[in-house]
Amino acid sequence: MKSTRRSFLLSASAIVAGCGPGEGTIFRTVSGSADTGTSGSSTQSTPNTLTDTWSYEPGPEPPPWVPEGQEDEDAFPFGVQTGDARLSSVVVSVRCYEPNLRMVLVRGVEDGWEDAGEVVDLLSDGDVVQIELEELVPDTTYAVAFYADDGVRRSSPSRFRTALYPGATRVVRFGATSCLGGNHPWPTLTHASGELFDFFVLLGDTIYADWSWGGSGFEENWEDALQITGMRDLTQSTSLAATWDDHEVENNWDIDEPGVLDTALASLEAFRRAIPQRVGSQGSGLWRSMQWGDSVELFMLDCRGERFGGDYISQEQMDWLKDGLLNSTARFKIIANSVPITDMSDVYFGIDAVDRWDGYANQRDEILDHIRDSNIRGVLWIAGDSHFGDLAHVGRPGSLHHFQYEVFCGPGGSDLNPVVWLLNPNDHYEQVVKEFNYVAFECDPDAGTIQVAFIADDGGVIANQTLSV
Ligand SMILES: [Fe+2]
Repeated sequence: MKSTRRSFLLSASAIVAGCGPGEGTIFRTVSGSADTGTSGSSTQSTPNTLTDTWSYEPGPEPPPWVPEGQEDEDAFPFGVQTGDARLSSVVVSVRCYEPNLRMVLVRGVEDGWEDAGEVVDLLSDGDVVQIELEELVPDTTYAVAFYADDGVRRSSPSRFRTALYPGATRVVRFGATSCLGGNHPWPTLTHASGELFDFFVLLGDTIYADWSWGGSGFEENWEDALQITGMRDLTQSTSLAATWDDHEVENNWDIDEPGVLDTALASLEAFRRAIPQRVGSQGSGLWRSMQWGDSVELFMLDCRGERFGGDYISQEQMDWLKDGLLNSTARFKIIANSVPITDMSDVYFGIDAVDRWDGYANQRDEILDHIRDSNIRGVLWIAGDSHFGDLAHVGRPGSLHHFQYEVFCGPGGSDLNPVVWLLNPNDHYEQVVKEFNYVAFECDPDAGTIQVAFIADDGGVIANQTLSV
């Protein structure tokens, strides 16, 4: 059946929800105790909110877990990915050429690691296995590895951290980048892996499917990306939270052009098989939020797949974002935005405005006015796509939206935008970063500040600024 624009969101939902063994991908929900009965995380009940009768300390961060057995790069060339961590669950993904897998989960405790469960008889055989782990302990470090059926050969282990209880606060640290490109082996991601972040945000252009540097299709492009050393290091160190931009499909794709919708759906399926993630809010496509207690809520936008009828994002996505920002209990509301919302008319003079929020003035005003008129504090936009790093005011000096900030993250390894050579820091663009980078964020709810550090290929700090938002 030919896809239509209206069917796009429904199809996007079905890609994950409908995955079953017959379609090659297993996405099933298991609890930590379901297959083993082992003790640990799975047996502890989790309150819905932090109350006077519950107190907790963030779980410890033990030295890296070294599982028994032997890592086999031939059997598990893509490593293990985790994504969209919540307070008691995470999505795990592995692709490999083994016919029968066992997943082992361990939990970080004061003196190292304790068993937290296992799942057996997972069928892979050259495909992708995705599992949602549930009933995990909030704000706790876990690690996961997969074994071949000989019980010896295994994947590399991947660490992740669960989110905070609602009502709880602490400093939350995360990283972000975009536009990874050809600067292999993506050394900024290796440096990021050493930070053991709470999570890491991929803002789009993780692959350049239209370049096809290593393969001829979406699956091959993602397999290339997952194998690159920087990405392997990163996915061993923390969970991902990802959206897409144009190059996951093709340059500046327009869903109204003939054939593009089907191409986009094929791209979306490959994206979801590569980066474990949840179906979006309200059964929609990619847009969704992830809350880390009362410290941080991450609003993940889809600014590419809903450009219908002159809108930049669907009205459903707009309403969800406005309601979410207004009602969030988190001190900081991070809006992950694949293309900047900053007024860049002083850089581009209207060129290609249709590719950015700049070209959709009504919707841009709608969300920015909402944040200003509702006095929503703690908002920080983070964006990809620009191909230079920046800490910018969303509005130009003197404008109503000058007080909002946006951080342009990356490029992690794709060519720098030549416009950056003409741009120097000023009262609109406070930091201008002219080299490959990822950005480290440290969100301190007690201080009301977010420290923003741009990190270079050599691990050095290019620029560093603390924002009060
Ligand atoms: Fe890019």
